[in-house]
Amino acid sequence: MSASEIREVRVELGERSYSVRIGPGILDGIGEAVRTLCPAPNAAVVTDSNVGPLYADQALASLRQAGYEAHCVTVPAGDGSKSLDQAAKLYDAMAAARIERRSPLIALGGGMVGDLTGFVAATWLRGVPFVQCSTTIEANVDAATGGKTAVNHPAGKNLVGAFYQPRLVVMDTSTLDTLEDRDFRAGLAESVKHGAIRDTAFFAWHESHVEPILAHEPAALADLLERNVQIKAAVVAADEREAGLRAILNFGHTIGHAVESLMHYEWRHGECVAVGMVAVARLAVRRGLMADADAERMTTLLRAFGLPTEIPARLAAEDIVRLTKMDKKVAAGRVRFVLVPRFGETVLRDDITDADIRTAVEEVRAAS
Ligand code: GLY
Repeated sequence: MSASEIREVRVELGERSYSVRIGPGILDGIGEAVRTLCPAPNAAVVTDSNVGPLYADQALASLRQAGYEAHCVTVPAGDGSKSLDQAAKLYDAMAAARIERRSPLIALGGGMVGDLTGFVAATWLRGVPFVQCSTTIEANVDAATGGKTAVNHPAGKNLVGAFYQPRLVVMDTSTLDTLEDRDFRAGLAESVKHGAIRDTAFFAWHESHVEPILAHEPAALADLLERNVQIKAAVVAADEREAGLRAILNFGHTIGHAVESLMHYEWRHGECVAVGMVAVARLAVRRGLMADADAERMTTLLRAFGLPTEIPARLAAEDIVRLTKMDKKVAAGRVRFVLVPRFGETVLRDDITDADIRTAVEEVRAAS
């Protein structure tokens, strides 16, 4: 399959099924693609102050050419915009743009824009059509597919939200050209995660494609995105609302979220997931639930992608233990950890003790 070919993955959810399209330059066709699914007089693009100046005109031109009265709302870049205050401002903009029940709301950007726009789409008029145009590796690999939408609350990340599936996801791989190197690498953590939890051959594919991936070779990137979306789509189709299987996508996230919070979001999400996966792998090795060689293999791969594999020395293990209890996935007071006994397989354990977490964190904490 060539790199310039458009790849399409279906997320099978009955009448809410949708396509994820992956390919270079496909933002130019967003107007026609959306029009076919959501005929309406007007449409709104929500973007942020980083992505908007680069790609909003392209999206708006395509929407206008397809006959929409197209509006654009730009929110400040950064996770701070994932708030109820910002959602309220977007509702004002929706009212001003006369966004009606059939009018599509199009998220143009990374995970923050997708989560915020999806939440507003789920709640404005009790739900308007939602389209994702994701522009980062992290969003393409994970957040853009699957219908988790949310804003943050002072008590924690993503605490106010809804499961609300998009009608279409468009991943224009040309938009990755403008991604900062650190963001590009951070997004690869979720790809390593997908290989580790679901597909041992895909995990090994990463190991043999480090150079082409880091060189942004189009064929490698197209393969990477397509396989990630296939994995995510299969998990979401089996368990849309995280009643069971979908929890495996949280591998590395329980400790990762604690690190993210203690680092005051100075680290990218993917960087925190990388150290979270390394820590939980060490924990699994100590409990006899993962081979030491596999934990080492994963650490080596994350390092090859330039991702952090040590928790900063200034973070106290006790604080990490405390914050793991704030995880959304706590059930009946017990934190459920996703472990990977062998690549491609997972187990959920709720018998992990504070001492287990503390020891694992100490093991992967930087010396200074
Ligand atoms: N990012 C994990 C999920 O979508 O379930």
